[in-house]
Amino acid sequence: MHTSKILGTGHFVPDQVYTNQYMTTLFETSDQWITERTGIKERRIADPEKSEFPSTMAAQAAKMAIKNAGIDKNEIEMILFSSTMSDYNFPNSATLLQDLLEIENKCACIDLNAACTGWLYSLVMANSLIETGVYKNVLVIGSETTSSYNNWKDRSKSVLFGDGCGAIVLSRSDNSESKIHKSILSSDSSKKDDLIKRTGMARSPFFVDFESPDIVEMNGQVVFKSAVKTMAAQCATILDQTNVTKEEVDLFIPHQANMRIIEAVANRFDFPKEKVFINVQKYANTSSASIPLALSEAVEAGRLKRGNKLLLTAFGSGLTSGTVLLTY
Ligand code: UT7
Repeated sequence: MHTSKILGTGHFVPDQVYTNQYMTTLFETSDQWITERTGIKERRIADPEKSEFPSTMAAQAAKMAIKNAGIDKNEIEMILFSSTMSDYNFPNSATLLQDLLEIENKCACIDLNAACTGWLYSLVMANSLIETGVYKNVLVIGSETTSSYNNWKDRSKSVLFGDGCGAIVLSRSDNSESKIHKSILSSDSSKKDDLIKRTGMARSPFFVDFESPDIVEMNGQVVFKSAVKTMAAQCATILDQTNVTKEEVDLFIPHQANMRIIEAVANRFDFPKEKVFINVQKYANTSSASIPLALSEAVEAGRLKRGNKLLLTAFGSGLTSGTVLLTY
């Protein structure tokens, strides 16, 4: 069995900012309500006029990740692209990205949707392909334009989401201390109706009613409680299974959905503030882009160094969840 390492990271966010103050011009809300309930102050929103879509944002983030990895783009053997809404139904966004990056080796391209947990699912898939010797370099993307299905008349959900992208190059790393130690992936279908977008796919292909608040249907409190419980339990299990103590974890990057959820999970482990990476105040919930975007910012800011132990955890519609412990 081989081992894998995050060789390079990159990210991209659109320039356009929707502040909480701007949200008060769209509907009855306040900076105070949004800040107290979520910790979010602003979110980035893609501009179609500037051709900001999942694949084009990913091209920016991927170029940065490939450069930081120090490999040639044609050494990438697979693109795994996580998104809750790809550019098109088909071809997939991974293929569009191969074209935008001008990769000429005809590498494998696949999109994956496990909602906000999708990038962690992709990371685990990529790691398995590297461990078993199938590939040496996999480009793992999380890229989201949640604004393409966000209903700007619905105050209860639209304040929560934003757009952005994170990318990594995951590579074979035999004889390195960097490796993925353990992963947990899970889905609780009993709560599948608590966070669901029904329109725009096979069961309701063309109907999107922007007058309806329910483009995205969410039972916020069920999702909130389940998120805290599941992520905290998975983090405890993974530390137990790997004999790693919470003190040995150098950085914790939870899915950036809500400051209260992040704090509730971190508090269960007594993680001091400097061990928890938080950027939800700047970007809101960017779904499956949230962890790779935070990861890239953490590396850039010097918060994550080679040899550090990194704990990642996420949850989302499904309700999917996942946790990964790795040495960076
Ligand atoms: O990746 C997964 C994505 N999903 C999540 O992370 C969601 C998890 N859930 C949450 O974060 C919280 O449940 C929310 C932030 C969504 C809501 O917080 P809450 O404390 O559960 O509030 P609530 O749903 O009980 O709503 C309280 C009130 C309601 O008014 P009434 O019925 O009590 O009069 C809402 O209508 O707040 C009202 N409200 C708002 N008021 C001002 C809802 N949205 C807003 C808003 N501004 N934007």
